Amino acid sequence: MKWLFNRSSQTQSGTESQLSKENFPSHVAIIMDGNGRWARRRGLPRIAGHHAGMSTVRDIIRASDEIGLQYLTLYAFSTENWKRPRAEVEYLMRLPEEFFRSEIDELVQRGVCVRFIGDTSRLPEYTQETVRRTLERTGNNQGMTVSFALNYGGRADVIGAIQAFARQVENNETTWDDLSEDVFGNYLSTYGIPDPDLIIRTSGEQRLSNFLIWQAAYAELWFTEALWPDFKRAELESALMDYQKRKRRFGGLK
Ligand code: IPE
Ligand code: IPE
Ligand code: MG
Repeated sequence: MKWLFNRSSQTQSGTESQLSKENFPSHVAIIMDGNGRWARRRGLPRIAGHHAGMSTVRDIIRASDEIGLQYLTLYAFSTENWKRPRAEVEYLMRLPEEFFRSEIDELVQRGVCVRFIGDTSRLPEYTQETVRRTLERTGNNQGMTVSFALNYGGRADVIGAIQAFARQVENNETTWDDLSEDVFGNYLSTYGIPDPDLIIRTSGEQRLSNFLIWQAAYAELWFTEALWPDFKRAELESALMDYQKRKRRFGGLK
C-alpha cells in the first residue's frame, strides 16, 4: 500500500498533524456546496463563487495527495443542477476547461488518475472535449484517483447499472441469478473504486442531494458550516481526525 503518510506529518503551517495511520480512510467524497452564498455575502454574482471554488478544488487535491488518500471524489454538477439559470449552467460548463488548462501539468506530475462519473455525453461539446483530453493525459496514471462527478445523480447511476446489466442478460452474457451487491457495483459509474469511507459536505446543509446513494450505504458523514471557497486543508484534516475516532460497525458489534 502506498503510504504517502510521512509526507503529511507536517501540515503547510508546519504543525504536526494528528492523523494516525490507523483507521485511515481510503476514499473521501466531498459535496462541494456553498459557492453561491460565498459570492452573495461579498456582493458578487454567484459565478464568482464558482470561480473561487476552483482554487479550493486545486488545494484540496494537493492536500489529499500529500496526506496519502487513494481516492477522492468531488461532486461538481448534479443531474438536478440543470434547473439553474442558463447563464449559471453555461458558466459551470466552462469551468472544467479552465481548471484543467491550469492544473493538468501538476496533476500529471503527481501521477493523479482523473475519472469522470455521471453522464458526460449530455455535456456541451467543449466540456466533453476537456473530459476526453484529461482522460488521455491522466487516465492511466497510477497515483491517487480523483473522480469528478459531472452531470452525476445517484439515482441515474443506479438506473444506468440496471440497464447495463439487463442488456448483458439479454445477450446471454450473464443471468439475473448472478446479480449480487458486489456484481451490481461493477455496473455503477464508480466501478473499481471502493465505497466512500467518509462523505464531507460544506455549507451547513446536511443532505446527500442524490450523491452516491448506493455507495454511501455505510459511509461516515461529516458536515461543516464552511462554504466551499473557504474550505481549507486544516478543515479536511479535522474531518479525517474525526473519522479516525469513529467506530464503524457495519451492523455488527465491534
Ligand atoms: C455548489 O455551490 C456548486 C454547485 C452545486 C454547482 P452552490 O452553487 O450550490 O452554492 P449555494 O448552495 O447556492 O450557496
Ligand atoms: C449538491 O449541491 C450538488 C453539488 C454540490 C454539485 P446543491 O446545491 O445542488 O444541492 P441542494 O439543491 O442544496 O440539495
Ligand atoms: Mg448549493
